[in-house]
Amino acid sequence: MKLKVNGHDHQIDADPDTPLLYVLREDLKLNAAKFGCGLGQCGACTVIVDGRAVLSCVTPLILLEGKQVTTLEGLGTLDAPAPIQRAFMEEQAAQCGYCIAGMMMRAQALLQKNPKPTDEQIRSELQPNLCRCGTHMRILRAVHRAARLMDSAELLPSDQGSVQ
Ligand code: FES
Ligand code: FES
Repeated sequence: MKLKVNGHDHQIDADPDTPLLYVLREDLKLNAAKFGCGLGQCGACTVIVDGRAVLSCVTPLILLEGKQVTTLEGLGTLDAPAPIQRAFMEEQAAQCGYCIAGMMMRAQALLQKNPKPTDEQIRSELQPNLCRCGTHMRILRAVHRAARLMDSAELLPSDQGSVQ
């Protein structure tokens, strides 16, 4: 079947019940999404599908025909990080880092629909994603920072002078 990931079409030769996570990591070599529990309980495998955060370990290929899948690799690179990636680096939100790609993807999906979330909204949205290192406060700060960075980026073309 055809699968669109990070703007590119791929022809995937796999059983339609194969979880998206396996295809991303094994067929497409996109390793940002992590295998944590494999049961939809930790959030390490979170990606964005048509603007919504999705657990790729429990999402079969068959459900993705005609949809747009975005992984962390599709947001930015080390040289040109997206605001969410920059914010997590600047707040040093990662400890072991295993949960971080999933956290960033869920936070990105939140910021796309709600550019200025409150503490409470961020906590509630990120609740399905577990961090056993306990970096929650840094993650919270990183999401607020990403919101500010995105806001500034939107202002840049027409209103450069007013960006702080
Ligand atoms: S690996 Fe998908 S939720 Fe844990
Ligand atoms: S930074 Fe280690 S699990 Fe979150």
